[in-house]
Amino acid sequence: MSEPLSPPNPPLTDEVVSLRPFNADDVPAIVAACQDTDIQRWIPMIPVPYTEADARRYVLMTLQAWHDGTSAEFAVVDPASDRLLGSIGLHFGPNPRRHAVGYWVAPEARRRGVALRAVRLVVRWGFEHLAIERLALWTLPGNVASQAVAERAGFRNEGVIRNWEADRDDHPVDAVMFSMTPDDLADAEAIDAPSGSPRIARLPRELRATGTRTAPFIDLLAADELTPGTMRRVTLAELDLLVAWTPDGIVVTADRCPHMSAPLSIGVLNGCVVACPLHEGRFDLCTGETVQMPTTGGLDADGRYHSPWSPAAPSAAPAGEARLEPPSKKAEARRLTRVGRLRHFPARIRDGRLEAQLPILPE
Ligand code: FES
Repeated sequence: MSEPLSPPNPPLTDEVVSLRPFNADDVPAIVAACQDTDIQRWIPMIPVPYTEADARRYVLMTLQAWHDGTSAEFAVVDPASDRLLGSIGLHFGPNPRRHAVGYWVAPEARRRGVALRAVRLVVRWGFEHLAIERLALWTLPGNVASQAVAERAGFRNEGVIRNWEADRDDHPVDAVMFSMTPDDLADAEAIDAPSGSPRIARLPRELRATGTRTAPFIDLLAADELTPGTMRRVTLAELDLLVAWTPDGIVVTADRCPHMSAPLSIGVLNGCVVACPLHEGRFDLCTGETVQMPTTGGLDADGRYHSPWSPAAPSAAPAGEARLEPPSKKAEARRLTRVGRLRHFPARIRDGRLEAQLPILPE
């Protein structure tokens, strides 16, 4: 980011911790926390001894970083008392795949899940509002408490990176590298969801519908209106959506058959596969693939030609076999009709509502 960044409003909170920018009133608590030998040990850039002047510089640095758009630095506080519990920052690299998370927690606030809560809040905000594609998090090899927080938040351990950091004497030291993508966050949230509650399917990123990467999340319906194994049609302006609860989770896609746009929502859902009410086409909502080409034949998503076929003992051919068609414009149109892959709209559940990231809707 290279432009001024505004702190989220309302502030990020999960009712147990809140994240807000630092202010001058935090200086005494920062000074007290940074006397802690663990903070000094695991964060070599923290000055030792740590003074009030260091804390004042730190607060100014965090405010300047918001203004410059170089990082988003939050004080982690108790929502009721505004007492400082720790610090967390999103540090921006040169592109959406080079950003990182860093944090510390004051000694008296440890072992209460403060770091995990703060990491989850900031990671979700980063992925949803800043179009971040990957977040890194690294620790020194002995910092097992921080590594446990990273893994519980859904980061993946990518191994030891040699000479990645420098110690207090500026000697190179190894670091354990973690990373998280938006898919990892969806996985972590699905694992945390109570069993039987609605969760979003994890789908291949390449199946994401065009124009959704930075699109806003738009409310679709209450999650408890859905039941496993069912489909719903939701219409917003000119956009007809299919919401399906498959064994892999909830999928949101256009309610248009990838063959000739028939509404899939009035078809039949069996596992992840929906059968179109026209032409016998069957499509896998979870992989985007065509399971059975329509009876009219045509081109598949890779451009391969499939013959028309007969579903049930017609006069032209035995059931399931290729049907010969006399040349005509219609036959030619059917032959050239391409059955594309189903694309999905990224979805989430917030406060019991299902939302999807949709391209801008017409007024
Ligand atoms: S419109 Fe769905 S298979 Fe033809």
